[in-house]
Amino acid sequence: CGIIGYTGDDRATLDVLLTGLEGLEYRGYDSAGVALANGSLAVYKREGEVQALKNALPDASVEGTAGIGHTRWSTHGPPSDANAHPHTDEDGRVAVVHNGIIENYQALRDELAARGHVFASDTDTEVIPHLIEERLEVGVDHETAFREAINRLEGSYAIAAVFRGSETVYAARHESPLVLGVGDDGHYLASDVPAFIEYTDQVIYLEDGEFATITPATVTVTDETGSVVETVVETIAWDPEDAAKSGYDHYMKKEIHEQPRAIRQCLRGRIAEPDGGITLEGLADLEPEGMVQFVACGTSSNAARYGARLLREHGIPTQTFLASEYTADAVPVDEETLVVGVTQSGETADTMRALREANGAGATTLALTNTVGSSAARECDHVCYIRAGPEIGVAATKTFVSQQVALALFTGALVGDSDPAFLEGLRELPELVQTVLDSSRAREVADAYVDADAYFFIGREYTAPVAFEGALKMKEITYKHAEGFAAGELKHGPLALVTENTPVFALLTAGSRLEKTLGNVKEVQTRGAPVIAVTDVPEEVGRYADHVLEIPSTHPQLTPILANVQLQLVSYWVANRLGRSIDKPRNLAKSVTVE
Ligand code: G6P
Repeated sequence: CGIIGYTGDDRATLDVLLTGLEGLEYRGYDSAGVALANGSLAVYKREGEVQALKNALPDASVEGTAGIGHTRWSTHGPPSDANAHPHTDEDGRVAVVHNGIIENYQALRDELAARGHVFASDTDTEVIPHLIEERLEVGVDHETAFREAINRLEGSYAIAAVFRGSETVYAARHESPLVLGVGDDGHYLASDVPAFIEYTDQVIYLEDGEFATITPATVTVTDETGSVVETVVETIAWDPEDAAKSGYDHYMKKEIHEQPRAIRQCLRGRIAEPDGGITLEGLADLEPEGMVQFVACGTSSNAARYGARLLREHGIPTQTFLASEYTADAVPVDEETLVVGVTQSGETADTMRALREANGAGATTLALTNTVGSSAARECDHVCYIRAGPEIGVAATKTFVSQQVALALFTGALVGDSDPAFLEGLRELPELVQTVLDSSRAREVADAYVDADAYFFIGREYTAPVAFEGALKMKEITYKHAEGFAAGELKHGPLALVTENTPVFALLTAGSRLEKTLGNVKEVQTRGAPVIAVTDVPEEVGRYADHVLEIPSTHPQLTPILANVQLQLVSYWVANRLGRSIDKPRNLAKSVTVE
């Protein structure tokens, strides 16, 4: 879910909220709503995307100095107008938006219902305005009522509230992101910076347990006891252009094409000339003695698998875990263990839980993330930023490439003296990715197989994670069946699925035991399946394939990065032909902040 809040110029409030909600839609988009406080409290909310909310707004201008907005990805209660945020008390004195989960909501709801409260939704959030209302009734002021209500909550939350007849926005954070924006014409708060970057680049990150009180003129942050906390205003480097689509049909396409730049940013200043030593800021004294464990979800877990393979190649023992399956006690973990959380958002609840558990067990933790100031960045002992810039498309593309590159740098930094050919490969990577983008024939391949029953992807060693990622991307944006396999596993079961209508994408790159994978290619061809070779040695493998997607040759550990770009483009064009909602696939959210 995404939260936006503003207080300042009352003619601008609604615009700020709606723009903010559009900038936050990648966090969830099954319903949206706003509340504006003036003499009364006006609440508008609708199931569906922000556009549905816009359509529902009255023709007359809606004004209010203070306002809050929310875009939702359901956790309690299905998407509906009633379950959309903001939620209010029965008298409409206070409106609340919330991101996260109130774990004790059932107990609170029962307690409130027993005292006569009537609820209008199925959400956990709605208990909050009712708790606030009860405190108002005993005569305390807005801020006290807000604090006392928040103190009753268990779970994770970022919450914002506005009150009828007040210009103040109140907010609180616990294990869910919330950032304040300091502008010339008022003050902002949001789950994430792109929501208000158009208006200000001056931000204050709220910490867990902190409260914020913003008025048109002031920003006050306090801790749990109510003492004022000294804040640091940081300047964010993202410019608003970055967050817009700039001419591409879809954010995903734009982001695929931004990959050369993303890689350059990731490499910048990290490979020393002329000796080529790699330095990652903040990681200089990191020297893991024991096991390196990776925890991640989704696309990030495929990047983690690639990183683990690189480290193992250099004799560093690694394990990779899906974060949702990780338990530090069973692994085991000790002070010598380094646990690396790979997470572009830095907010994924499964990954956060794994990292907290690892920290609790005494491990050293490292966040590999795209989001400065994210929960993962704060939780971990060390942070390595992948510097991909904001990614709006739900399907991760440039963040995946940047994770791969950051993991290659990380390996080089840990190992010390890196292979000059590897460093040279890293340096030329932006250009090589550009070559793939400029010459790819992925669209033809997509056109040829848009009606396939299913798509299979096979890879080996360094390219196995790319096979998994190729299939994940295909599933996410085309809604068609796709599976990635380690090539050698194909014959141990999945081969039964192969027919003449299941194209097989084979990652046949030099250095990933090509001859063995070619053997698997023959197995599928015998069953009539079309084969698309993604390869840096087309002369060698072209005759075994129906189509070839060529990639330039480079260091064998870096070819998977190039191969992946071809697969991103194939998925994109299949989804495009099928008319899918590419940037916002059904049922998915970019950042999943529930376990
Ligand atoms: C969600 C997204 C995936 C993403 C995963 C992990 O499920 O839909 O695209 O890979 O979260 O996200 P993270 O922010 O931790 O990398």
